[in-house]
Amino acid sequence: MAKKNLCFVGSFVVVVVLNLVFCAETLSRHEFPFPPDFVFGSGTTAYQSEGAAFQDGRTASIWDTFAHAGKAQGATGDVACDGYHKYKEDVQLMVETGLEAYRFSISWSRLIPNGRGPVNPKGLEYYNNLINELVKHGIQPHATLTHVDLPQVLQDEYGGWLSQKMVRDFTAYAEVCFREFGDRVLYWTTVNEANIFVVGGYDIGIIPPQRCSSPFGKKCAVGNSSTEPYIAAHHILLAHSLAARLYKKKYQGKQQGFIGINVYAYWPLPYTNATEDVIAAQRTKDFLIGWFMSPLVFGDYPDIMKKNIGTRLPAFTKIESEQVKGSFDFIGVNHYVTIYTKDKSSSLKMDTRDFNADMAVELINEEGDTSSGELALVPSGLLALLEYFKQNYGNPPIYIHENGQRTWKNATLSDPGRVKYIQSFIGSLLDAMRNGSNARGYFYWSFMDLFELLDGYESCYGLYYVDLNDKDLKRYPKLSAHWYSNFLKGQSMNLNGATEVQKKKNSTLSQSHSSQ
Ligand SMILES: *[C@@H]1O[C@H](CO)[C@@H](O)[C@H](O)[C@H]1NC(C)=O
Ligand SMILES: *[C@@H]1O[C@H](CO)[C@@H](O)[C@H](O)[C@H]1NC(C)=O
Ligand SMILES: *[C@@H]1O[C@H](CO)[C@@H](O)[C@H](O)[C@H]1NC(C)=O
Ligand SMILES: *[C@@H]1O[C@H](CO)[C@@H](O)[C@H](O)[C@H]1NC(C)=O
Ligand SMILES: *[C@@H]1O[C@H](CO)[C@@H](O)[C@H](O)[C@H]1NC(C)=O
Repeated sequence: MAKKNLCFVGSFVVVVVLNLVFCAETLSRHEFPFPPDFVFGSGTTAYQSEGAAFQDGRTASIWDTFAHAGKAQGATGDVACDGYHKYKEDVQLMVETGLEAYRFSISWSRLIPNGRGPVNPKGLEYYNNLINELVKHGIQPHATLTHVDLPQVLQDEYGGWLSQKMVRDFTAYAEVCFREFGDRVLYWTTVNEANIFVVGGYDIGIIPPQRCSSPFGKKCAVGNSSTEPYIAAHHILLAHSLAARLYKKKYQGKQQGFIGINVYAYWPLPYTNATEDVIAAQRTKDFLIGWFMSPLVFGDYPDIMKKNIGTRLPAFTKIESEQVKGSFDFIGVNHYVTIYTKDKSSSLKMDTRDFNADMAVELINEEGDTSSGELALVPSGLLALLEYFKQNYGNPPIYIHENGQRTWKNATLSDPGRVKYIQSFIGSLLDAMRNGSNARGYFYWSFMDLFELLDGYESCYGLYYVDLNDKDLKRYPKLSAHWYSNFLKGQSMNLNGATEVQKKKNSTLSQSHSSQ
């Protein structure tokens, strides 16, 4: 008991990393003060894992088109992990790991190949099989409706999210999912990382549908970085809210499920304590998180966005504002890193601006490098982020939908760095919950090594290694899979290969004690 107390006191006092390694002694799922319905899981997405890209009636999504144009290191998701055929063994691995929940996404173009209209019976059958297999083993299915993979046919027909027509087509697709799967799927996420999708796809143009304009993006054939990210985001909010309203009105009563949307959120820290950098960090939160959260909670965009963007920011009508406001049961958050932010108000003097120029912030890492703002492991960023949701958006129920460590993919199954990453962030989540955060679940990203989009198959986050040189794409547990499994089963960490973690624990124990 004393050890546990020390550990929790320590979590606010001692340097976080040391503290959490120290906590490892007692870190187990069952010792956490989590509410009974809190879930620990892991996830994948359709295009990154299913494969069978053109089998049984599936048509191309905008990701297929992008990958086939050679823009993902020449790799594609045509086969990926072949989850389409291997779902039974994958669910078996989840059972062995002890997952309580599994987050996956539904491929719209597999279920409704023309984007709207007839449902593909083979697509329906696949998702029914997957969901049944999960439910049969007591694993809660959490489904995302779109993970960037819009049917190409809708992109071609009317420009996808740039058109108001998406609101109607998305809602119709969502209803097919609620109707067909909602008796077993109780957790629905409409759109994954809506904020990053529109910045990546319509401002800097590095992900599909790859639209941007000079000088902001590189190599886009078409686009308008000044306006399109805001238009696409606006339509996503309208589509999300219409689908959520439909769910609440027609399905929630009998199905008893929940619906939400997902945002990507790094934690912005001011680069210096100068007032303008502190304000810049706040502005980053408004542009990154408030862009979606303010309409969802208050019915309108943040004032600073309206001020900096002006007429390029679409306005909500009174009816739309009412529709969007409160249209969620939970918020999904993808969190990986903390980033330094530095004021760049000078960008507001430019005549033509994009999202980043409107935000007027420069992202910087510890070495002062502006090419990548990511800091090394900062688990306390998650605590700060959850506090921010608690204090600014009414403490909504939150699922950490993604949190994970990226490494280059190679055949080593020893990933003590990933173990440290997971346990540090779960420790930070615990700190946040002890301070009143309404977090309801944690999903490690990702369950296995996937087609990692822009990285092709060169990087990975998985608990399980997938051998791409084996024609059966055999999966192998990494040290992190063993660690997570032991954690979930409430066992202490005693496995071959855990020596490095053990050594670190030994070497930091004395330091932790001395810093109490
Ligand atoms: C983007 O759209 C705005 C508003 O319609 C227009 O003024 C601007 O010229 C467009 N920019 C490009 C690059 O097309
Ligand atoms: C800013 O102030 C805080 C609190 O006084 C201090 O901990 C932090 O190191 C300062 N940050 C910088 C970059 O000077
Ligand atoms: C494998 O990846 C790890 C972690 O990124 C790295 O330290 C190691 O050098 C890599 N090994 C090979 C053979 O590439
Ligand atoms: C804990 O919550 C209180 C009240 O919301 C807040 O003032 C405080 O800053 C939080 N502590 C941490 C460590 O975030
Ligand atoms: C850690 O310390 C314990 C006792 O303090 C010792 O028995 C054990 O061998 C150490 N483990 C490693 C990996 O150094």
